[in-house]
Amino acid sequence: MSLTPPAAVIVLAAGQGTRMKSATPKVLHRIAGRSLLGHVLHSARGVDPERIAVVVRHERDAVAAHAVELEPKAIIADQDAVPGTGRAVECGLAALDDAVQSSALAERDERSPLQPIDAGLSGPIVILAGDVPLLDAGTLAALVESHSVDQNAITVLTTILEDPTGYGRVVRDADGQVAKIVEHRDASPDELAIKEMNSGVYVMDSEALRSALARVDRENDQGEVYLTDVIALVRADGQAVRAVVTEDPMLVEGVNDRVQLATLGAELNRRIVTEWMRAGVTVVDPSTTWIDGDVQLSPDVTILPGTQLHGATTVATGATIGPDTTLTDVEIGENATVIRTHGSGSRIGKGATVGPFTYLRPGLDLGERGKLGAFVEVKNSEIGAGSKVPHLSYIGDATIGEETNIGAASVTVNYDGVNKHRTVIGSHARTGADNMFVAPVRVGDGAYTGAGTVVRRDVPAGALGVTTGNQRNIEGWTTSRRPGTAAAEAATRATEQPLSPQAQAEARRRQRESAPGDDPTAS
Ligand code: UD1
Ligand code: CA
Repeated sequence: MSLTPPAAVIVLAAGQGTRMKSATPKVLHRIAGRSLLGHVLHSARGVDPERIAVVVRHERDAVAAHAVELEPKAIIADQDAVPGTGRAVECGLAALDDAVQSSALAERDERSPLQPIDAGLSGPIVILAGDVPLLDAGTLAALVESHSVDQNAITVLTTILEDPTGYGRVVRDADGQVAKIVEHRDASPDELAIKEMNSGVYVMDSEALRSALARVDRENDQGEVYLTDVIALVRADGQAVRAVVTEDPMLVEGVNDRVQLATLGAELNRRIVTEWMRAGVTVVDPSTTWIDGDVQLSPDVTILPGTQLHGATTVATGATIGPDTTLTDVEIGENATVIRTHGSGSRIGKGATVGPFTYLRPGLDLGERGKLGAFVEVKNSEIGAGSKVPHLSYIGDATIGEETNIGAASVTVNYDGVNKHRTVIGSHARTGADNMFVAPVRVGDGAYTGAGTVVRRDVPAGALGVTTGNQRNIEGWTTSRRPGTAAAEAATRATEQPLSPQAQAEARRRQRESAPGDDPTAS
């Protein structure tokens, strides 16, 4: 970007968000895997400001902690009891001035103690509301650029809405400059007819802003300090205020309630999915595919219907995900397939196959060409290249070598009620169906275990481990111990002398006569 970076971005996040009806502050609600504030900070970073200030008041600690987590250098500005967007900006500006002064002081101490210190922040400031998640860095950059090219004191981002109810209206002069912004509730009938609305996103020259804010009163319907009032004051000072009109109203739409949260969430998702399709990803059903903003996909990935990719999930080329799969922070290798799977915090190697109905929990590392089949749950385990857990198993806290096959319905018994223990199984091992690996336990390379083995002791390399005793059959047990049951009758029939060919023919004839319609040979 050849743009001169703004001196600061001020994000307004002190409001209550009453209409969300939530214990969670509005700006911490999430869409596309990021909080509303997270989206705004992400765009703010995109214009490379020297400083970012976040103005907080409602649920102050939660919002401040979240802001600092996302943007460690964020300056937290506390708004006082005076309400309104103008007051919020004033508080943000004061915190920025403090920050500028203390870094100037630190620098002066290093050099010469006699050098005068800067009075405070100067240069253009970007002002954003914390609840406008679709605003992108490109739109902001264009706003910053036209602010400097046109040499404005204030540049407002606006859009035209068929129904601008509730928004501030942009009142223009004959020469096209912005004369003032009136809030809906303070507007005259003529002003209410204006369809150009104020997005609440601005670039303002810090000197002009500072001087105008000092003169803003609270003479309005809400008794608040309106930021929008600085516009008429700056114009009266003879400085330029222009608007940049975006043709994409969604970019500047704010979230006030949960209906808007869902609408903007769906719209943002639609945009993310569209971008991935343009980048070479096949998305069979965009309307049931949800992809978070930080997910990374490669060309020739295929996403089948009902798939949700969250967090830092990455998918390499040739892989197929879905249908009906939810993955959070999962790394998928080239040409892997993951079908009907729920997973998080895992890595799936190249060409591996997972699913259907597989549960991947954090710490799984499945090697190249590995396989996890139906009704398999795995956590905190390394499974080597070419190794398979094909059916109905739980593998937890295990290390499995390469090219090993784990028999169906096996469990690593990893928990003794107090501590977790590891199961280590070597390479080229073949464990029987229905094994219990009572950890800590080791099975060596090339070892086998019998079906139904409870592996309580290590099985050395190349050995066969078996714990089951010899099978004993007690003849006639069912008829003697469960007489009169259907099982006993079936057993009796099965153990009777087989019928002679004539008796069989007679039995068939009698059956035909009793139910002629059932005989497929009757016409
Ligand atoms: C504001 C604008 C309006 C514009 C609309 C766009 C004003 C007076 N009005 O109205 O022209 O069309 O945004 O969405 O600026 N905030 C604080 N402290 C406060 C009040 C608000 O930090 O004391 C924050 C809120 O958390 C929010 C943002 O400022 O992020 C906007 O506040 P909000 O109350 O939603 O302003 P609107 O009435 O929507
Ligand atoms: Ca609003």
